[in-house]
Amino acid sequence: MQSLNSRFLEKNVVITGGARGIGFEIAKQFGLEGAIVSILDFNADSLKEANQKLIDLGIKTFGYFIDISNRVEVFDLIANIDAQIPIDVLINNAGIAFETPFLNIEEKEWKAIIDINLTGMFNVGQAVCKLMAERKSGVVVNMASKNGLDGEAGYAHYNSSKGGVIMLTKSMAIEMAPYGVRVNAVCPGYIQTPMSMEIDSPEFTQKFVDRYIPLNRPGKVEEIAPIFLFLASQESSFITGQTIVADGGQLAGQKP
Ligand code: NAI
Repeated sequence: MQSLNSRFLEKNVVITGGARGIGFEIAKQFGLEGAIVSILDFNADSLKEANQKLIDLGIKTFGYFIDISNRVEVFDLIANIDAQIPIDVLINNAGIAFETPFLNIEEKEWKAIIDINLTGMFNVGQAVCKLMAERKSGVVVNMASKNGLDGEAGYAHYNSSKGGVIMLTKSMAIEMAPYGVRVNAVCPGYIQTPMSMEIDSPEFTQKFVDRYIPLNRPGKVEEIAPIFLFLASQESSFITGQTIVADGGQLAGQKP
């Protein structure tokens, strides 16, 4: 089943963390517009399930088990994927989050978040951009967060990693522009996904929404994925180095 739009017909789109949550929805929406989707994930069960769901929708998909913080394996895998079908689009989405008060964060936890959310994104981004630079074409969209612009108590490590993603995006954009490669980022606010539901109870979510989100509800994955498709499409051909915020109005100011 293909949608009316076919902006990505036969394009090879690599999506990290595409086995569930926002990444899976991004994979699905690209696939429904004709893309070949390559999902990189370190959750083997979710990966298998996601691949089957995409195949059932008639989407051409490949699943690769990998931890994006393993630089050597990332470079090997990206070279391998690109040798089969050149990569047109990279969606650098994989990330993790834990809630821990700043004074209690241990080095192990700090490193785990930075190694995946920032260094992992650097690893995949650099491996793919080296190939895109040779071809002088390609698009990258990085997953940042509203928390990379405006922090949240209990998430010093996560906030820092996402702030880093925004600066990594701007740095990549200016250095990749001469090769005709655009790099942008997306900053979602509170989105209901397996990640946020594992951390927060329904009661917490309701209180959070009441206090902070002008649109009075959490966001849905279906509302975030299209922003990635827009930033990867020709429609955004003069946009690079930017971050698009989708947060239900949270950053606009305090609710009455
Ligand atoms: P999720 O936990 O539902 O999905 C994340 C996926 O990434 C999982 O399939 C996981 O296995 C994979 N992954 C994590 N670390 C990996 C690694 N080292 N190597 C390979 N795969 C790995 O999370 P969700 O909510 O869909 O988040 C996706 C991205 O969106 C993350 O970067 C997150 O920080 C970001 N984000 C999420 C928001 C939310 O409210 N859910 C808000 C703003 C940003």
